[in-house]
Amino acid sequence: MKVGIIGTGMVGSSTTYRLIEKGVADKLVMTDIIEGMPQGKGLDMLEATPILGVDVDVLGSNDLADLEGCDIVVCTAGFPRQPGMTRMDLLKKNLGIVKPCAEGIRKHAPDSKVIVVTNPLDIMTYATLKTTGFEPNRVCGMAGMLDTTRFKTFVAMELGVSVRDVVTIVLGGHGDSMVPLPRYSNVSGIPITDLLSQEQIDRIVDRTRKAGTEIVSLLKKGSAFYAPGAAIADMVESIAKDLKRIMPACTYLDGEYGFKDVCAGVPVILGKNGVEKVIELKLNEDERAQFSKSVNELVKTIDQIKSEKLI
Ligand code: LAC
Repeated sequence: MKVGIIGTGMVGSSTTYRLIEKGVADKLVMTDIIEGMPQGKGLDMLEATPILGVDVDVLGSNDLADLEGCDIVVCTAGFPRQPGMTRMDLLKKNLGIVKPCAEGIRKHAPDSKVIVVTNPLDIMTYATLKTTGFEPNRVCGMAGMLDTTRFKTFVAMELGVSVRDVVTIVLGGHGDSMVPLPRYSNVSGIPITDLLSQEQIDRIVDRTRKAGTEIVSLLKKGSAFYAPGAAIADMVESIAKDLKRIMPACTYLDGEYGFKDVCAGVPVILGKNGVEKVIELKLNEDERAQFSKSVNELVKTIDQIKSEKLI
């Protein structure tokens, strides 16, 4: 199992380290355009492996050609959000980075499954899918797992219980109109709607929507990386080990949920073939309206970048 990570900033390196800890791959390659950074971080991580007790090859490289033979490639390359910046502000800047990375993946790792992480996530996933020309099951994006782990954290904090038994799900685009679903969330099978008041749930939902911004405003430079890295590693593991976990992921919709030709967050089965199935939830009217609002924003953005010939 060879996994490639493009971009060795905070998200790329947290992901790589988490993958080493979890023993997901026997070969890892980290690439970045900054000379010395992937090599230095790769060597540093390799030197941790005797303590971690993991045998793994870690290669740092400035050349996408080293992705050759990768089964899975994670693209984290791009500018992170800065305070005051929305994910959409990043759009044009990061398209110019993600498209050449996607071309590199197509050329050097033509059989890989791809997980896109760069923001604005749903649009970058779509751009990667179109640029690689891969089948839609082979390209997905990570955001739902991050939004979900944040939602879980806030539920556990509010109740003063272990995070371990909390199950939540978040759909839609990775933006302020994402759709956390309290009706599908529970703690050890007990619906959170039985455990929390509507006021508490509304507060948690709102914090979940703004959780990325909360970290950006605390860090002042850059955005979250530990929770994103942990979320990406779980997705890589589910594909690498064919676990067939059901996770929220950004995937291409071809009629599911009434949408076509857009990538958005929905529950999927992730296995050795990538996105093996999209699961369609029986959303109620309010949930469906929220989901449609979020996805329609993505459709509009895709139309805009198509009309500007950016994709
Ligand atoms: C976040 C940013 C990175 O949600 O999108 O943390």
